[in-house]
Amino acid sequence: KNILFVSSEAVPFIKTGGLADVAGSLPKAFNKDEFDVRVIIPKYRIIPDYLKQQMQYRTHFYMDLGWQNQYVGILEMQYDGVTFYFVDNEHYFSGDQAYEGGLWDLEKFAFFSKAALSCLPAIGFHPDIIHCHDWQTGLVPVFLKNVFNDNEFYWNIKAVMTIHNLKFQGTWDPKTIMGMTGLPSYLFTPDKMEAYKDANYLKGGIVYADYITTVSETYAQEIQMPFYGEGLDGLMRARNNCLMGIVNGIDYDEWNPETDPMIPVHYNAITFRKEKYKDKCALQEELGLEVNADKFMIGLVSRLTDQKGLDLVDYVMDQICADDVQFVVLGTGNAKYENMFRYFAWKYPGRVSANIFYSNERSHKIYAACDAFLMPSLFEPCGLSQLMSLRYGTVPIVRETGGLKDTVEPYNEYESTGTGFSFANYNAHEMLNTINYAKHVFYNNKREWHKIIDRGMARDFSWNTSARRYEDLYRML
Ligand code: ADP
Ligand code: GLC
Repeated sequence: KNILFVSSEAVPFIKTGGLADVAGSLPKAFNKDEFDVRVIIPKYRIIPDYLKQQMQYRTHFYMDLGWQNQYVGILEMQYDGVTFYFVDNEHYFSGDQAYEGGLWDLEKFAFFSKAALSCLPAIGFHPDIIHCHDWQTGLVPVFLKNVFNDNEFYWNIKAVMTIHNLKFQGTWDPKTIMGMTGLPSYLFTPDKMEAYKDANYLKGGIVYADYITTVSETYAQEIQMPFYGEGLDGLMRARNNCLMGIVNGIDYDEWNPETDPMIPVHYNAITFRKEKYKDKCALQEELGLEVNADKFMIGLVSRLTDQKGLDLVDYVMDQICADDVQFVVLGTGNAKYENMFRYFAWKYPGRVSANIFYSNERSHKIYAACDAFLMPSLFEPCGLSQLMSLRYGTVPIVRETGGLKDTVEPYNEYESTGTGFSFANYNAHEMLNTINYAKHVFYNNKREWHKIIDRGMARDFSWNTSARRYEDLYRML
């Protein structure tokens, strides 16, 4: 079976969030005898040079998009045993960031989606299934079923749409989108691509996909309800016979405390008791925090947006930052949250470290160094950071939503079970109580704390299980 992943980001080429981790690592996990899984992404100018140098020119042609006729170059590269294709067009992909906002992004990803379909005959790859990810590729199923259906090559290609985040849908007024994409006008009605008077890419993808998945079972249920449905809960209910949640995994080769080249001291599920604190001290030193192996260190690595529950943190940060706690944050995003963490770092020198930038290396060090990892999300389709934490023996403290609920088992002191700490309601004091409870166990019952780590590190969140579930889905289709 031939599978084509169409994604706007994939590690190691370009990453803004978890989508890149998934699109870059899941393709490796399929059974190679049965599935030939390839990936296509845009050739952004900001892809690191050492990777661009390895890409090889494959073909080029010109393609209509609305009234425009545009150059499409296709490059190719093997990475870690997977074939990646890159759509080249300097007009669209020369920006300083993958996403630049507004109508420009809608045009850019309409172009990318159409190009990903158009290039297939020329590169000689006929997918049985095209697997699309998030709103940026929502037009792929729409084009496939409404425009490319006049060409026999495309007749029996099935489309899967995976929702990594329902919040982002790609919307604009229908007239503009119609002219810009050249899509037929019959598509712009509320039973197809239109939602609340706007053209909606993700809705189009959901309507025209043969199957829809999302990245955890709980999120698949949640998005059928108004609170999490982002206005599309009715559509999700209508399509729930073709909707399934498959929890994400992470790349266990990249995220491995035993071999990770980015952390100073290695450890595993047995040696963490004697080694992990050394990574903590190294990071304390590096960040200018008080060097003290016994201090309870909480980490937070995240896009700094409303989704991530940071207003809860803001509300009780003074109480979190008691004398016996260190708090390390790494993230970028909303200026309000960036400044909030800068402020607390200024207010609590030696205790709070605000790293307001993007750094993969720094993130590895934080996952390894911290005792606990905080993720109080308002909603969380899956979440990968808590999986990375579990892998590094760092105990997650999470809100029970989406994938956080499905992957972190709350600690039960009576039965001595569980891999982390969690709270149910979106409430700052509930979060604070949970942090304090975790801190209490850390300081007063190290044996129990270590057993929580033992259980967390023993869990398997590699792609092994979830890739099999995608394989089953592909076979069924
Ligand atoms: P989301 O996709 O919603 O951002 P996930 O938890 O699924 O959330 O994935 C986030 C990924 O991005 C993780 O791999 C996390 O380590 C990484 N990440 C987020 N912010 C940064 C940052 N500032 N520097 C490095 N890595 C980051
Ligand atoms: C999205 C979600 C996150 C998920 C990631 C990968 O960015 O916000 O929860 O883990 O996609 O699926």
